[in-house]
Amino acid sequence: MRILGIETSCDDTCAAVVEASGGLARPRFRILSNIVSSQVKVHQKYGGVVPSLAAREHTKNIVPVLKRAFNNLKFKVQDIDLIAVTTHPGLLPALLIGIHSARTLAWYFKKPILGIDHLEAHLVANFLTQPSRQSPVASRFPAIGLIVSGGHTQLVLMKKFGQARIIGETRDDAAGEAFDKVAKMLGLPFPGGPPIAALATKVLDTGYEVRRIFPRPMIDSKDFDFSFSGLKTSVLYFLRDNPRADKARVATEFQQAVVDTLIAKTLRAAKKYRVKTVMLGGGVAANLELRRQLGERLARESPTTIYQLPSMHFALDNAAMIAATAYFHWMRGERKSWKQIRVRV
Ligand code: KG4
Ligand code: ZN
Repeated sequence: MRILGIETSCDDTCAAVVEASGGLARPRFRILSNIVSSQVKVHQKYGGVVPSLAAREHTKNIVPVLKRAFNNLKFKVQDIDLIAVTTHPGLLPALLIGIHSARTLAWYFKKPILGIDHLEAHLVANFLTQPSRQSPVASRFPAIGLIVSGGHTQLVLMKKFGQARIIGETRDDAAGEAFDKVAKMLGLPFPGGPPIAALATKVLDTGYEVRRIFPRPMIDSKDFDFSFSGLKTSVLYFLRDNPRADKARVATEFQQAVVDTLIAKTLRAAKKYRVKTVMLGGGVAANLELRRQLGERLARESPTTIYQLPSMHFALDNAAMIAATAYFHWMRGERKSWKQIRVRV
């Protein structure tokens, strides 16, 4: 089954063509194309994504991106079996561009179309590079998913795909947002995750031991919620009081505070609900220390738990994960026409 995925929820214009087979038990995804057109340069000077600018850029880029997705393929849009598009969550004006493009294609070529939850797709990204030689998908549930992106930080308990319950989320800033804001304080470019992570890697490579100069907000609270706004403020005050502080070390200390909090709550949720799998998703899932340390802690404290990670490439926003999510929904019998596809924010 050939699926065209379209994603415009934030600041990347994405289109992908994915060939899916194997059914719900052992899905296999072949990524035939995966185009991501980043708008980061447009938003960089504002230190965050500006919704109206994002919509303008998506409008400019969506057709070229769609064309590129089919560039090296031996078939055309009319040979697609299903169209998948992100309908929520995201920036309203940005989402609309992808939704209207997808609806128009579905209408014109008389194709079925499904609206996709961007956050669910971040977890499905785990399956893009984990082929079916592993245990069947159903045997990996229940699972805990940690979704950490620029806009969201959530722990979800999944009985199966499509059946997820949010058991915890951030009460203020998202994890990625905290990276972005602290990066700004440190004079690093937007988005802040990659430059902070790069500085931390350099510092840690010198053998630096983390001193825990920043708090781990809510780490001992009984619930599964997060809070990163106080941590951000601590960094701000620390920089104000220590103007000559080594920025790279501050970045390292901050990153570790976020990683510690995310790991503590994820592990506790995994134990409480006796899950078979822990999955990671979202842009912050590209963070090497989070990936490594969560893996180590799980191996030590819960060795039978499967640890599923999206490849670095598919952790960040992309449309291949949107197409793959549509496959799961399609195989469970979900059918929609273009008239039913609406933005859900
Ligand atoms: O999922 P994503 O691509 O877009 C949203 O749906 O928000 O996530 C983007 C977020 C940004 O806040 C960015 O700073 C963060 O992911 N990020 C990282 C890393 N790479 C991207 N955060 C920490 N470490 C990274 N290596
Ligand atoms: Zn995302």
